[in-house]
Amino acid sequence: MKLRSITRVKDLVGKRVLVRVDYNVPISKKGNVEEMHRIVASIPTITWLLERKARVILLTHIGRPGGKVVARLSVDPVARILSRLLKKKVIIIRTRNWSRISQIEKSLARMKPGDVALCDNIRFSQDEEQNSASFSKELASLGDVFVSDGFGVTHRTSPSVTGIAEYLPSYAGLLLEKEIDGLSRVCSMPTKGSVLVIGGAKMETKLPVILYLKKNIETILTGGGIVNTYLKARGFGVGSSLVDDAYSEEVQKLEKISTIVWPIDVVVGRTDGSGARVVTLGNIPFGICRKNEAILDIGPKTISMYASYIQSATTIIWNGAMGYFEQKPYDTGTLSIARLVATRSKGNAFGMVGGGETVQALRMVKMEEFVDLVSTGGGAMLEFLSGKELPGVNIVSTT
Ligand code: 3PG
Repeated sequence: MKLRSITRVKDLVGKRVLVRVDYNVPISKKGNVEEMHRIVASIPTITWLLERKARVILLTHIGRPGGKVVARLSVDPVARILSRLLKKKVIIIRTRNWSRISQIEKSLARMKPGDVALCDNIRFSQDEEQNSASFSKELASLGDVFVSDGFGVTHRTSPSVTGIAEYLPSYAGLLLEKEIDGLSRVCSMPTKGSVLVIGGAKMETKLPVILYLKKNIETILTGGGIVNTYLKARGFGVGSSLVDDAYSEEVQKLEKISTIVWPIDVVVGRTDGSGARVVTLGNIPFGICRKNEAILDIGPKTISMYASYIQSATTIIWNGAMGYFEQKPYDTGTLSIARLVATRSKGNAFGMVGGGETVQALRMVKMEEFVDLVSTGGGAMLEFLSGKELPGVNIVSTT
């Protein structure tokens, strides 16, 4: 997939460049940004534009305020981090009422070339939420050029993600290019030596990835909710484990996919970390845990088996935790996978990791820098890996 890169544009001096970023980051009760990855990843595009003396106007959403102003979801904490990273003042444009576009235009008119402004949460606007065509046109009137760089939101269709592109010359930012390059690369790598590690809670987004990639991936290693749902569907007693009964039929079809590897043992216990014990699995269903217990991690034999696949892989894609890694001792599986993936990446294998929790695990073992591509996209990455088109990428695609 080829993208129309912003780097093609020669003269940007003084131009108002609207950049759709994805600063949908967790904000603590005290109003601090808890996870900066998406903000850090947006810096190269912004710096590139500032070096060319553009007027940079950033658009983002945070959370799902549903078209209403929710003070906790304002961009202020993000602006503070951004100012620190860019080492310059970030002007906050108070767009609490997005319907007053002329006022926003007036505030933006005070910007000088080389200034950067961050508009308040675009989802405070009903029109953004309702995908209004006239709002796309109004937003576009605030800029001369549009840059799509919020990879994490490119699976959505809305005025700030896709609509503006109908009215302005539109380009891919550096982050978007990097993400699409990495994803296209893992999808076109030779099957031999490729490993997909898939876990996490939601079957809805993980199952399509397995079904789409199954022909191109040599080994699919499983963990988390998919495993629980699969075991329950096969008749194992899984106590209060996280399962998605809506997928019990579909998950059984995975049995036919010979490249899928299931855990051979699991760790069960109570969610407060007490009573943890290893249970070996077999082919004949039995009660793995009691009512008040749950499957909360992959077991030691499984970790060692998964290690042997990862240690000889040439391509690795990892999305989704192996268990409830936020609570000790159930962090062993996920953190072991994080170390294994990072150790094998950048050199022996091309390693790509994505999804909020997965990236968090990688960071817990302080090995983020050892992975080739740490994606800023959760849902967007999974949709791409499920073979779906991303509207926010299509608008800047040349193929
Ligand atoms: C994400 O975090 O996945 C993106 O920012 C999209 O957010 P949304 O699911 O609220 O549209």
